[in-house]
Amino acid sequence: MTTITLPGLADVHTHLRVPGGEHKEDFATGTAAALAGGVTTVLAMPNTTPPLSTPEALNAARSTAAGAIRCDVGLFAGASPERVDHLEALAPGAVALKIYLNDTFGPLRVEDLPTLRACFRRWPREKLIAMHAERQSVAVGIGLAAAYSRPVHFCHISRREEIELIADAKMQGLPVTCEVTPHHLFLDERDARRLGTRGDMRPVLGSPDDVAALWEHLGETIDCIATDHAPHTLAEKAGSNPPPGVPGLETSLLLMLGAVEAGRLSLERLEALMAHNPRRIFGLPEQPGTHVEVELGVPATLSDAEVVSKCGWTPFAGMTVSARVRRVVLRGQVVYQDGRVCAPPGSGRLLPSLGRDAGESGEQ
Ligand code: DOR
Ligand code: ZN
Ligand code: ZN
Repeated sequence: MTTITLPGLADVHTHLRVPGGEHKEDFATGTAAALAGGVTTVLAMPNTTPPLSTPEALNAARSTAAGAIRCDVGLFAGASPERVDHLEALAPGAVALKIYLNDTFGPLRVEDLPTLRACFRRWPREKLIAMHAERQSVAVGIGLAAAYSRPVHFCHISRREEIELIADAKMQGLPVTCEVTPHHLFLDERDARRLGTRGDMRPVLGSPDDVAALWEHLGETIDCIATDHAPHTLAEKAGSNPPPGVPGLETSLLLMLGAVEAGRLSLERLEALMAHNPRRIFGLPEQPGTHVEVELGVPATLSDAEVVSKCGWTPFAGMTVSARVRRVVLRGQVVYQDGRVCAPPGSGRLLPSLGRDAGESGEQ
């Protein structure tokens, strides 16, 4: 057994479900799951109920977060055709804008060009635009990045045709970046059949050839590993209208370290994909005095029983890993050790920090 030290990880794609989905996850439980997975900064998605597409909803979510988060959290603002007038007012409290071009969980969707243009014209240039774009929608996003000469980040790329297009766009010097999830790297459509609704998410699990393409591009085209941690309860997953999405905060690092052990990527590349690149791309602050201690060479089988997330299950149950997060230190404080989350609710920092003038508490 060896112990290695990694930087605190940054996961730029999580669903913490506040407001409206607190029975699935909340700020305190979702950030506890993050720490258990070695993640010290998370960005949370705006497809909540109501969505974070008005200043009122965004500010209310920020207030709730300030007293509840155990690691650093930033919120995405959500683009919506009815709410384009709010975009400038949303920006100060959000780390980035999320645009959903394809069907997924929740009502946020942008399917018309006038709204897309409004987003690109109105959203401040210093803040990133991220997209849920599948198949030819990736080409739409690349076209907008070129037309407005501003960066676009593609969430959870999952197909060969998409990653190859992004590689072509990067070759042309276009300002695009992308993330890939562990579930799209470690599971495929055969697992979807085995797992039933527990293996259903958007984008759906790909073919073995799609998965192979993602691994081929992990060394260069892919910028980040992001979990798309999307907790739903098992009762919902077993119900008549099962929502798409799977949790992933606690398993992401362990699975990726397995790939390092198997010689599929270097530890240095893992650190770039899971810590340095996400921080750089989204302009997230460094966290001095922060690190993650991981034990390697300790075989374990992933199971629902150990899941910290409120949802209480993992699509990777039954898979073997050989690493374990031993301790997480955030700004000099032990926040996780040997299965126990020690960080109290409210001890994390909310991003971006607006300070006391904005009337927010819980920020340091
Ligand atoms: O599977 C998914 N679930 N994909 C998404 O894009 C949204 C997410 C959710 O919010 O549950
Ligand atoms: Zn998505
Ligand atoms: Zn998502």
